[in-house]
Amino acid sequence: MCGIVGYVGRRPARELLLAGLAKLEYRGYDSAGISLIAGERIEAVRAVGNLSALHAKLGAVGGGVVALAEQPATTGIGHTRWATHGRVSEENAHPHYDTEDRVHVVVNGIVENYVTLKQRLADAGSDFTSETDAEVIAHLIASHHDGDLPDAVRAAFAELEGHFAFVAMSVQEPDTLVGARRECPLVVGRGEGEQFIASAVPAFLAETRAVQHLENGEIVVLRPAGTTITTAAGEPVERGVERVDWDEDTAEKGGYETFMLKEIHEQADTVAETIADRVARGAGVDLDEPGALDEALLAEVKRIVVVACGTSYHAGLIGRYAIEEWARLPVEMEIASEYRYRKPVVSEGDLVIGISQSGETADTLAAMRKAREQGARVLAITNVMGSQITREADGVLFTRAGLEIGVAATKTFVCQVAAIYLLGVRLAELRGTLPAERIAELVAELKRLPHCIEETIATVGERVAEVAEQHWRDEFFLYLGRHVGLPVALEGALKLKEISYVATDAYAAGEMKHGPIALLDDRTPVVCVATDSPVLEKMVSNMQEVRARGAHVIAVTTAANAEIESQVEVAIPIPSVDWMLQPILAVIPLQLLAYEVAKRRGLNVDQPRNLAKTVTVE
Ligand code: F6R
Repeated sequence: MCGIVGYVGRRPARELLLAGLAKLEYRGYDSAGISLIAGERIEAVRAVGNLSALHAKLGAVGGGVVALAEQPATTGIGHTRWATHGRVSEENAHPHYDTEDRVHVVVNGIVENYVTLKQRLADAGSDFTSETDAEVIAHLIASHHDGDLPDAVRAAFAELEGHFAFVAMSVQEPDTLVGARRECPLVVGRGEGEQFIASAVPAFLAETRAVQHLENGEIVVLRPAGTTITTAAGEPVERGVERVDWDEDTAEKGGYETFMLKEIHEQADTVAETIADRVARGAGVDLDEPGALDEALLAEVKRIVVVACGTSYHAGLIGRYAIEEWARLPVEMEIASEYRYRKPVVSEGDLVIGISQSGETADTLAAMRKAREQGARVLAITNVMGSQITREADGVLFTRAGLEIGVAATKTFVCQVAAIYLLGVRLAELRGTLPAERIAELVAELKRLPHCIEETIATVGERVAEVAEQHWRDEFFLYLGRHVGLPVALEGALKLKEISYVATDAYAAGEMKHGPIALLDDRTPVVCVATDSPVLEKMVSNMQEVRARGAHVIAVTTAANAEIESQVEVAIPIPSVDWMLQPILAVIPLQLLAYEVAKRRGLNVDQPRNLAKTVTVE
């Protein structure tokens, strides 16, 4: 999730671009860059680090287009990066440009077919200078460029697969920017004799509040006098100009009232980014990427141990069910803060997976070190390139959730789960434990997930609000689940407790009769994860037991099991996917329930008391 910005007009572009990037830094900050056109010259300046590094570099350039004071550039593009493909380095920072240095681009998202395109372009003479997928867009546009940048962008767009948004400019048309979007966001800001384009409105809110939203598959041409929007095929599109009346704070949150809500709504996109190219080639899963664990090692693994904390631990729990079922490997789950002080029996042949969104959690790092000292291979699953965990692991599998600001993990959690599913399918392929048809079926289901997440978010709101309205004053919630629904219950309970300060407990539903059932009375809401699975009938019996004690059953169900509705206080139906993948959808109403309860209690959901986003202490 990167931030892109562009300006074409009469004012010096450099300062406007830098101001825009400062507003987009929340989208990524491992490197940044701008390109400017002045007269017949085009120039890019890029720097590793946050924006201050780019400022320092610009100050030090001391010449060229970027520093020209007498003829300041009035056209330019800028980028702030959250690395996905390729390390954090100056070469991998944007803008990227073609071999002749004519076409510059800034890109957000992922080009799934970049390997094929890169090969073809390299065979035709393109000289690539980065490890990124984004660079192919510059070369591809240049290869189609015959004096008309919009035409070249259209031709390139037709060949690109994936989900992305980009802005391109060419030294041959210094007064033109062309933006294109497929899935990833892009919005135009309209001014008098000047136009802006960016990933999000805050980038230009200080300059204009008149916006044009681009739809999927549209291409926009920006010139100082105005904009022209077309479909990818070149059909003209009429798009009105809207006024945004957000204050700066709301704008930063993309119009949502909190970062947490914004991040919940980003989950479809971030899961799409996490699986994207990894399920794009052939029928299986491809995890052979820079920094990944050697596949030969993966194939030889005899046992897996997962170490993690909090929400990341819950993601690991879901992974255990999937890996055991699909790859027939024993998986042990360990709370990192406990594991690090034990004398664990671990050795060569074991794969220890450390899961940490921040990549800096002290206990997880210590647990991984301990296992590594005893000869185990270590794989990190993390969201942050360059984090400590990436330096201490033998291989890394990145989630691609972008920066998460809300302290309660939401989008990073679903991306961790998606990443473990990918690993589970790949292990099954390598070990030959699933027939090809089942692999193909799972991959097809994984690809459906972003769409199903969108549908879930769009449909569960009313029921969730009903439950919150009914129960937000209650002092205790019990969460129950079975099998793969159990980690969802645990995660739902953690979300409610951490942002609402309501006491919760989460249990394997079958354990209820061994103790927790004593807690139940007519004041107890019991949230049950009752999605489609081979243990659904058992779960339904547990729900009857709860009801018989007068407690209130709130059930997350799959749309296919509508009959449950008559047996519970509120049923929250979600779309059906393969039952093993159901947790990614089932957790969403529970995130929203925690949110709605916290909101009614008047709490700061983005910064709950006593909690830190990154826990670098014991
Ligand atoms: C809960 C939450 C925490 C983290 C835990 C581990 O919403 O965010 O429980 O999951 O502190 O953090 P990471 O994943 O950064 O290791």
